[in-house]
Amino acid sequence: MRKRASLSNEYEVECIPGLEAFVMDELNSYDARSLETLRPGFLRFRFAGDSRLLITLRSAIAVYGVHRFEVPRPKALLGHQHLTRLIGILRAAMRDWTLQNPRLGIGAAGANTRVINRLKEELAILLAVELAEENKGELYLRLVRPVDRSAWEVLVRLGPRPLSKRDWRVINVPGALNATVAYAMTQIRSQDAQDSVLNMCCGSGSILVEHALGRTSGQLLAVDISDKMLSAAKRNLCASNTKHRVILLNADAGRTPLPSGAIDRIYADLPFGGHVGSHADNLRLYPALLREAYRVSKPEAVLILLTHEVKLLRKCIVQSNWRTISETKITLSGLHPRLFVLKRKSTTIYR
Ligand SMILES: C[S@@+](CC[C@H](N)C(=O)[O-])C[C@H]1O[C@@H](n2cnc3c(N)ncnc32)[C@H](O)[C@@H]1O
Repeated sequence: MRKRASLSNEYEVECIPGLEAFVMDELNSYDARSLETLRPGFLRFRFAGDSRLLITLRSAIAVYGVHRFEVPRPKALLGHQHLTRLIGILRAAMRDWTLQNPRLGIGAAGANTRVINRLKEELAILLAVELAEENKGELYLRLVRPVDRSAWEVLVRLGPRPLSKRDWRVINVPGALNATVAYAMTQIRSQDAQDSVLNMCCGSGSILVEHALGRTSGQLLAVDISDKMLSAAKRNLCASNTKHRVILLNADAGRTPLPSGAIDRIYADLPFGGHVGSHADNLRLYPALLREAYRVSKPEAVLILLTHEVKLLRKCIVQSNWRTISETKITLSGLHPRLFVLKRKSTTIYR
């Protein structure tokens, strides 16, 4: 990609709180500099390259260019000099978009105050765009006061929509996993490079797609008990052009038709009684799934699980042949599910 002048080389990433380490890893691979966590779910960094590269980040919900304005309060942004600069920044942000009729939204503490409303209206007129409802919009900016409170920052989102909204998601089901969380699950390292992969409780296929897009070889197996979910998975996999690498099976995760000792890497975004399943079902499913995962796995296999039924899963793990390597709390849609990484206690293959 041809390098072009960037209007800002300071950026802010928004991510799922708890997944900052995955974002840092990804940003390091982009040669980002001066990485720091501002608060859970928000990181700052410097990047000297073409900002268009940053919209390919897969662990981020959104990335913003940071523009500092030496003004004491947002009202001063309405002055000619600052407004002209801001219009230039926003025009540059939209330059590569093919989108017709983008709408403008501003996020700020007090986003509906008289001053912010006036700023929105002025910007909308000067840019010839509509105002978005609920302060969302394809052209989206946030007004932020830096910690030293010496100025104001205008953060302009790169791209017309959050990066967590993937093109491959052509069908969205209740309980579908946020794609950045699915991506993070696929980034957990395991020993075997020749991964044979199983996704238990695959639902609409979010983890499968993110895994297949990140690793260009290898076949994936997936099971779910619901035909409706399997057909959603098929559609999302087709849209991501990865369906040919995945075998989808209708099976109970506690009793699959798969051979013993064959799998290197197992994923499951477990039902946890919100959108999908119930606690009573989970009392049966969780121990059965751990037993079955143990049976089908190779000695060095890794089992990567996500659930909000943390106490139940911890109890089942203690009674199983798996041990916990790590447990990471994340914040997702107002809940605090945990990401568990497990390894087998014993290397004996159960037949
Ligand atoms: C939280 S959802 C998974 C969502 C998925 N990650 C996605 O992005 O769509 C849990 C899934 O477990 C499946 N499930 C529930 N009980 C199951 C069982 N006994 N065996 C296999 N799958 C089961 C449900 O059909 C559902 O698709």
